[in-house]
Amino acid sequence: MITACSLTLLLLFFFFFFSLFIPFLLNLRFVVPGGFAWKKYHQNHKNHHLKGPKTTCGNFLGFLPQMGPLAHRNLATMATSLRANRLMAVSLGSVRMVISSHPETAREILCGPAFSNRPIKESTRLLMFDRAIGFAPYGNYWRRLRKIASSHVFSPRRISSLEGSRHAIANDMVERVCVEMNERGFVELRGILQKGSLDNMLESVFGINSDNEGGELLGLMVKEGYEWGKRRCNILGGRVSDLVTLFLKERRKDGDFKLRKDFLRVLLSLKEEDLFLDTDMVGVLCEMVFRGVDNIAILLEWIMARMVLHQDIQAKAQNEIDAYIGHQTRHIQDSDIANLPYLQAIVKEVLRLHPPGPLLSWARLAIHDVHVDKCFIPAGTTAMVNMWAIAHDASIWADPWSFRPERFVELGDFSIMGSDLRLAPFGSGRRACPGKALGLATVHLWLARILQRFKWLPSQTVDLGECLKLSLEMKKPLRCYAVGRQ
Ligand code: HEM
Repeated sequence: MITACSLTLLLLFFFFFFSLFIPFLLNLRFVVPGGFAWKKYHQNHKNHHLKGPKTTCGNFLGFLPQMGPLAHRNLATMATSLRANRLMAVSLGSVRMVISSHPETAREILCGPAFSNRPIKESTRLLMFDRAIGFAPYGNYWRRLRKIASSHVFSPRRISSLEGSRHAIANDMVERVCVEMNERGFVELRGILQKGSLDNMLESVFGINSDNEGGELLGLMVKEGYEWGKRRCNILGGRVSDLVTLFLKERRKDGDFKLRKDFLRVLLSLKEEDLFLDTDMVGVLCEMVFRGVDNIAILLEWIMARMVLHQDIQAKAQNEIDAYIGHQTRHIQDSDIANLPYLQAIVKEVLRLHPPGPLLSWARLAIHDVHVDKCFIPAGTTAMVNMWAIAHDASIWADPWSFRPERFVELGDFSIMGSDLRLAPFGSGRRACPGKALGLATVHLWLARILQRFKWLPSQTVDLGECLKLSLEMKKPLRCYAVGRQ
C-alpha cells in the first residue's frame, strides 16, 4: 500500500518537474536569433555571430509591437541589452531585418554597393513615390533622375539663385509671428514653419506659392500625407495625381515653360527622347515637395524648442550674430553663415539629439547576398541604421544626453554630410540625401533671421516628447513668446 502510494507520488513529482521544462524544450528546437523571419536563414547557414532577440517561430508578429512611435528608442534599448549594437537581426512581421547602431557597420551598409535599393511599402506605391528618386530601384532610371535633380534643384548655383525667395519667405514668417503675438498673445511656430517650408518647395518645384489655389490645395494634401495609412494614401494619391497632372497640362498650354526656372520647367524641357512619362513626373515632383516641407519644418521646430529651453545658448547665438552683422543693421545673407560657427554648431547639436530621420527615414534593401561585420546577410534583407542610437552612444559622444553645441566648436570642422558615421543625419553613400545642402542653407538662414529679430521665451513648459511618424516630430507643438529685440 505504502509502496503504491509513494510510487504514485514519485510519478506525479516527475510529471510536474518535467512539465516545467516542456516550453523550454520546445523553444530550444524552434527559437532563432532575430525571430521568425530568420528561421530559414538560420537553418541553412550556420552563422553564430549574428545576434538578435529570440522568439519562437510561431511569433508571426515578430517585433512589430516594438516599432511604435518610439521605435528608435526601443530598438536602441534592445540592441544594448543584447550587446548587438554592431548588428542586430529582427523580424518585422515576416520581414527579415538587420539594424546597425554602430558607425562601422553603418558605413558597411550605407556605403557598400549591396544595399542600394529601398523596400517599398504599399502606401509608397499609392502615393506614386515608387517612381520618384527616393524609392526608384537602383539603376539607370534612378541615376537619370538623380543627375537631373542634382544639377537643377540641388546644385549650389540653383540654391543661391533662390536666396531671394528664402528671404521673402523669412519676411513673411516674421510678419506672421508678429500677427500671432498680437492676436493670440503667444506663437505656435509649427504652422508658420510648415507654410514657410511649403512655399519654399513650391517655388523651387512649381514656381508658385501656397497663396495660389493649387499650391494651397497641395499644401493641405502634404499635411494629410504625413498621416500615413493605406486607405488615406489611396485617396490622397489620386487627388495629388489629379492636381499635379493639371499643373502639367496648364504649363504645357501656356507654352512659356522655357522662360521659367522651376523643376517642372526642367522636366518639361528635356529632349523628346529623354522625356519622362507624365505619371513618373507626378511622383518625382510630389516627392520633392513632401520631403522638403517635412524635414525642414520639423528640424526648425526642434531647434527653436532648444532655443526657448536654453536661454543662455540662445543669447550666445544672438551675440554672435550681433557681433558679426551688427544688430538689426541689415538682414543676414547666405554668405554670412560661414562666419557664424556657433549657429552652425547649434544646428549640428539638434541634428544629433533630434535627427528628423532617426532610423535614416528610409531603410535599404540588399540587392544581393553580402557580409556585414562578417555575418552573412541574404539578398532581400532590409537594413536600417539607427542613427539616433549612434548619436546617443556614450562611448562615442561624451555626455550624450546634454544639449551642448560647444562640443562641435571644440571638434572643429566636423562634417555631418555623410563622411563621418558618428553623425550622419542625411545618410551616406550613393543614396544619401541629395537635398542636404538645400536643407541646411534654408535652416541656417531662417534660424539666423528669426534669432536676429526676436528673443524667444517659454509661454509654457517646453515638452521634448517625440513621435516618430514619417519623421521624428515633437509630440506637442511648441508654444512660446516672441519679443522684438531692440
Ligand atoms: C533637414 C533636412 C533633411 C534631412 C534631415 C533629410 C534626411 C534624409 C535621409 C536620412 C535620407 C536617407 C539617406 C540614406 O538612405 O542614406 C534622405 C534621402 C532623401 N532626401 Fe532628404 N533630408 C532633408 C532634406 C531634404 C530636402 C530639402 C529634399 C528635397 C527637396 C530631400 C530629398 C531627399 C530625397 C529625394 C532622398 C532620397 C535619395 C535617394 O534614395 O536616392 N531631403 N534624406
